[in-house]
Amino acid sequence: LIVGGIFFSITTQKLEEEYIEEVKRGGIRLSDSIKNSFRYAMLQDDKKAVLSAVQSVGKQKEIDRLRVYNKDGVIMFSSVDREIGRLIDKHSKACAPCHRHSQPLKHLTELERCSIYNNDEAARSLLLINPIYNGTDCSTAACHAHDPHQRVLGVMDLSMSLQIVDSELAQKKRLFSSFAIGLMVITSLVIFLVMRRVVRPITSLVAGTKRISSGDLDHPLEVKTKDEIGMLADSFNTMTNNLKTTRNQLLQSERLASLGRMAAGIAHEINNPLTGIMMFTSSLQDEQKGEDGELSETLDVIMTETKRCREIIRGLLDFARQRQSNYQVHSILDILKNSLKIISSHVQAAGIEVVTRFDASIPAMLVDGIQLEQVFLNLMINAIDAMPDGGTLTIRATMTSDDEAGISVSDSGTGITPENISHVFEPFFSTKGTKGTGLGLAVSWGIIDQHHGTITVESEVNKGTTFTVKLPVSREER
Ligand SMILES: Nc1ncnc2c1ncn2[C@@H]1O[C@H](COP(=O)(O)OP(=O)(O)OP(=O)(O)O)[C@@H](O)[C@H]1O
Ligand SMILES: [Mg+2]
Repeated sequence: LIVGGIFFSITTQKLEEEYIEEVKRGGIRLSDSIKNSFRYAMLQDDKKAVLSAVQSVGKQKEIDRLRVYNKDGVIMFSSVDREIGRLIDKHSKACAPCHRHSQPLKHLTELERCSIYNNDEAARSLLLINPIYNGTDCSTAACHAHDPHQRVLGVMDLSMSLQIVDSELAQKKRLFSSFAIGLMVITSLVIFLVMRRVVRPITSLVAGTKRISSGDLDHPLEVKTKDEIGMLADSFNTMTNNLKTTRNQLLQSERLASLGRMAAGIAHEINNPLTGIMMFTSSLQDEQKGEDGELSETLDVIMTETKRCREIIRGLLDFARQRQSNYQVHSILDILKNSLKIISSHVQAAGIEVVTRFDASIPAMLVDGIQLEQVFLNLMINAIDAMPDGGTLTIRATMTSDDEAGISVSDSGTGITPENISHVFEPFFSTKGTKGTGLGLAVSWGIIDQHHGTITVESEVNKGTTFTVKLPVSREER
């Protein structure tokens, strides 16, 4: 706005100067023409003709006054009668251009001959002085021959009103300044809109990024505009959500990994005494063979319970990824189909409808087929358990990106409560009482982790649950 203001004021000033200059040049031409029109009458010394010409020029609308005075400053002719015969002061406006120095100037430039002053009516007038020089025809004229050495014979001064010029100028200035003000208002409006639509949302984006970088991922950015900034905020919020999910997964992985280390330690410690118990129980059973009695029944119970303990220890070792894997090239879809075959009788008995969405583009992958089947079976059995009154079991397998296959197992069952959902992968977490050991998901997590994949869960109470397994697909596999 400041630059605009300065630009407009300089331009208006320049325009005014050029306009006045043009008016001055026009005035000089007019003054020269008037002087030339008197010349003949002056050479003839026809004072009457000169006076009547001066008066008729003076009557014109834009002419304030026209007068001619001799070199001594006596007014010889004037459009204002009462001035004739008066002496002009050397310091008056008309004389000053030449007489402002001790020696009067011999020659004036065109622009030095003009000056602008305020007349009595508080309007501006243009004063044009026009020296009447001595010429050969003057010094030889029969009537009143002048001395040939005399350079200036007198001066004609013409005063023109600038009222019309000034009102035109004022009108132009008004037009120009309204244009300038209009432009400034538009500029201000544009700046205001830019502030509102761009700067403010960007400021809130910056504040949001600062919040996120300080670790607060729970406050999405509140930019609701439908433009590019709104899109940026949306993708920022999506990015924050993904970051949050990844952070939670990392935290959970870390927690499960440390649980796994502890479980592995305990499992190893318990494994040896268990083997001892089983060996001694087995030899005692051999001794008691063929005998019916309380002792032999007790030995049977000890044996089954010890075997159960060993299964649990195996599960713990699976979860802790302590078991040797056997990687071979397998088709994921074949493993899924096989798992479905195994549970088919369960499914039928529970009145569950099975829906499969298999994407044939999933390549054969280097995996431990038995372990992966165990994972899919765990997920499917959990889904069946969650639908005691029947429902739909949906299995999807597709490439989620160029280098990742996604397998999801969804049910329309009871769902998992928000308090429980963060514990389902922990070993021994079960809501099934004696029916479950709570190792199924823990073991599945261990297996998938060993395959460098991820397993996640989404659930809504009374709507259903989806477990998603994502496995990396290498370039060779593709
Ligand atoms: N599809 C599902 N729907 C609802 N709850 C589920 C589902 N899958 C798992 N859960 C919950 O997660 C818990 C842990 O599951 P996990 O498979 O680890 O153990 P479990 O099924 O209880 O016992 P098991 O060791 O026999 O598998 C379950 O007890 C159940 O509460
Ligand atoms: Mg289970």
